[in-house]
Amino acid sequence: MSTASGPASPAESLPRGHVGLAIPRRALVTGAAGMLGSDVVPALAGAGFQVVPRAREDLDVTDRAAVGRAFREAVPDVVVNCAAYTKVDDCETDPRAHAVNAAAVEILAEECLARSIQLVHVSTDFVFDGAKGSPYTEQDETAPLSAYGRTKREGEEAALRAPDGLVVRSSWLFGRSGWNFVEAILRQVESGRAQLSVVHDQRGRPTATPDLAEAIVALILTRGSGVYHFANRGEASWLEFAEAIVALAGRAEIPVRPIDSATLARPAVRPAYSVLDTGRYEAKTGKPIRPWRDALAEYLAARARPEA
Ligand SMILES: NC(=O)c1ccc[n+]([C@@H]2O[C@H](COP(=O)([O-])OP(=O)(O)OC[C@H]3O[C@@H](n4cnc5c(N)ncnc54)[C@H](OP(=O)(O)O)[C@@H]3O)[C@@H](O)[C@H]2O)c1
Repeated sequence: MSTASGPASPAESLPRGHVGLAIPRRALVTGAAGMLGSDVVPALAGAGFQVVPRAREDLDVTDRAAVGRAFREAVPDVVVNCAAYTKVDDCETDPRAHAVNAAAVEILAEECLARSIQLVHVSTDFVFDGAKGSPYTEQDETAPLSAYGRTKREGEEAALRAPDGLVVRSSWLFGRSGWNFVEAILRQVESGRAQLSVVHDQRGRPTATPDLAEAIVALILTRGSGVYHFANRGEASWLEFAEAIVALAGRAEIPVRPIDSATLARPAVRPAYSVLDTGRYEAKTGKPIRPWRDALAEYLAARARPEA
């Protein structure tokens, strides 16, 4: 069993008045090799947790017996579920989407319930239909437009049945350990494309996975439960996001042409406006959220360093 532990005790990170309460010390992370999972593991370790990371090869969360074994081996007091089926278009036809995003969360929630363990689950802005036109709060009705969104909503419901179930919704993720929009744009730039075409009619909040990972830890340490939204500060269309990537990559001369989502005719419908309101997170943790442009600049700088 591989474990990672960091220097500080979790209690040292607690706000005044909370030290001494029983707080989680051992964390089982599922989907630990994914884009987010790869940042959640060091974030938990850095806050003093003993971390038991389980990549898909080590733990298939749809396998009830394997999940039971993992809980018995890891003896966690918090489980952070970063496993998911994230190919949004494939979710329309692939039954594995429901198995991983919904049924497996039910399995995790049942195990957590049986052992009084907190379950932390990650969800998405795609649970909303995008018709609101102003930032979505945790109280807003969900109305997913896609199979991905529907399976993720079902996963949320399961997670909230676990003790102190914590659902953290986020959006438009980019991180060093996974394929993402930033890499897709850079690949086109680096392949010598004279111009790019990017959709202009979907708006959201781009979010760096290290920032989301730290936010998840902050919510665990401040004993958050229920639903919270976290995303980097500021909103953008995919077009604006692409323009920022191209500019920060030093290739502002490459024009980025706006296209309609309808032009792409993708199998899954995306919300036109899925900006998340993060006020509840900020009030709970007292932590400021940095702008997505700063997080993007840091991502690109790290990417440019060969050793990073
Ligand atoms: N990416 C986004 O823009 C975005 C936006 C909002 C919310 N989210 C949510 O954020 C969370 C993390 O997403 P991510 O971007 O880090 O996705 P990711 O890179 O695809 O990571 C998901 C991980 O889960 C693993 N996995 C798939 N099926 C599994 C199974 N049956 N058992 C165990 N592990 C399994 C995947 O392994 P394989 O790679 O081998 O399949 C992958 O390592 C998800 O809950 C996602 O819904 C993502």
